[in-house]
Amino acid sequence: MLSTDRTHSIAPKLIWAVGGGKGGIGKSFISSSIAICLTRMGKSVTLVDLDLGSANLHTCLGAKIPPQTLSDFISGRVRDLNQITVSTEIPGLSFISGSNDSLDIADTSRGSADRLMSALRHLPSSYTILDLGAGTAQNTLDFFNLSDQKIVAFTPEPTSIENAYRFMKSSFYRKLITAEHELGIQHLIDAAMDARNQNGIRSPADLIRYLNASDPAIGAKLATVIGSYQVQLLLNQVRTRQDIELGNSVQSVCRKYFGIQANYLGYVDHDNAVWQSLRKRRPLIVEFPYSSIVGQFLGITKNLLNPHSLRAVI
Ligand SMILES: Nc1ncnc2c1ncn2[C@@H]1O[C@H](COP(=O)(O)OP(=O)(O)OP(=O)(O)O)[C@@H](O)[C@H]1O
Ligand SMILES: [Mg+2]
Repeated sequence: MLSTDRTHSIAPKLIWAVGGGKGGIGKSFISSSIAICLTRMGKSVTLVDLDLGSANLHTCLGAKIPPQTLSDFISGRVRDLNQITVSTEIPGLSFISGSNDSLDIADTSRGSADRLMSALRHLPSSYTILDLGAGTAQNTLDFFNLSDQKIVAFTPEPTSIENAYRFMKSSFYRKLITAEHELGIQHLIDAAMDARNQNGIRSPADLIRYLNASDPAIGAKLATVIGSYQVQLLLNQVRTRQDIELGNSVQSVCRKYFGIQANYLGYVDHDNAVWQSLRKRRPLIVEFPYSSIVGQFLGITKNLLNPHSLRAVI
């Protein structure tokens, strides 16, 4: 699937999702900032508010709620996503609003979620950024897993880190469950999710070890399914040097304990300019173009564009 971006070069169409489990950690701020950075690099971008039920991404963009939203698409009132896509004041950036109905992503059927994901893949822009809602609803995990870049946002607070681990673990098991027809290990995944299971499986890494030991053929299939599974860690609202280090700790816990390939993308400072710009309903990158946060987001976006040349965060 190829499209022409604003620099008129041929670039692949990619979907990037921003999740993290916990509410209020800055997912919408991060999604909109990364989307704007991509447009500054000449890419065409559609930003999608998948926080159905409590959609507020338009506020981060300083835009009004469009007359038609994702609830029109999900309910079948609108068949083509282009009908609910609106342009924004930022050149190259389009926007699809979530819903203001009481529609929850958890209530959306698997069929509607698949139809939505496939329609998102056909949007004309080169990049589609998904702002996921809080929580670990199955559809949220599916949107996250089906994305080309899986960004996990968290803050230095212990509750946020706990939720990020829970979100990654749930996404990983969800990935295995959706590959169930290839693996046939549903009973083991169910056991793994029960913290008191008898097989001693406490983490994805334990599950992989257990399978490799008990059935090397399934172990090999599992390795293929999870081989390309990678998440990108983004630490938001950093205040101290020790906070910055937390990203490296979470990365190594993911790798050693969970067996999940995680990369520390970078961090974003805690800065009062964030709420000041939000209050003015102007994106921070537009309102405070010389803020250090802008440079941090540009670095993070470059890392996402070139994941193979990720530099260690220090
Ligand atoms: N780097 C930051 N510095 C200071 N404040 C921040 C920063 N990032 C986010 N905030 C503040 O945190 C609040 C929540 O941000 P945001 O709405 O983006 O979070 P969210 O994860 O999308 O929340 P929800 O789960 O409710 O959708 C906002 O008031 C925002 O101003
Ligand atoms: Mg949000």
